[in-house]
Amino acid sequence: MAGTIAVLNGPNLNLLGVRKPEVYGRDTLADVEALCAREAERFGLTVDARQSNHEGVIIDAVHELRTSAVGFIVNAGAWTHTSVALRDALETVEGPIIEVHISNVHAREEFRHHSYLSSIASGIIVGCGVQGYAFAVARIAALTTVSV
Ligand code: DQA
Repeated sequence: MAGTIAVLNGPNLNLLGVRKPEVYGRDTLADVEALCAREAERFGLTVDARQSNHEGVIIDAVHELRTSAVGFIVNAGAWTHTSVALRDALETVEGPIIEVHISNVHAREEFRHHSYLSSIASGIIVGCGVQGYAFAVARIAALTTVSV
C-alpha cells in the first residue's frame, strides 16, 4: 500500500543534537527524518517531513496534508502545551495522529504535563528518545495498511 506519512516537528526541534543533548540526545533532525523515511520504507510508505519555528507555517502544512497524508506524526515541541490553534488544525485531519515527545514530559516541569493534542491523538509516545518516531511510523502503518 502506498501512502505518505506527514512528520511535523515544531519549534526548536531544528536544534536537535545541539539543544540539551542530555535530554534530547545527540541525533539531529536530519537523522530523525532519515530514520522515519527508512522505517516507512519497510512498510511501503514515504514521509513528508516538515519543521518550523513558526506556528502558522506548521498549521498551513497541516491544511496542505490533511487529506493526502495517511497519518500524522507530530512533535509540536512547546506548542503541545500552548496551542489551541494547532489542535484545531489537527482535528481536521483524516488519518491517525501519533503525538511524539523525545523526552518524558511527565518527569519534567509541570507545565509540560498538559498537552492540547493528546485527546485528539490516536496514540502518544513519550520518553523513548528519537526511537519514538520509528515506533510512530510502525503504528501508523499498522493502523492504515490493509492486510490481506
Ligand atoms: C518535546 C517536549 C516539549 O515539552 C519541549 O517543549 C520540546 C520537545 C520533546 O520532544 O520531548 O521542545 O516535545
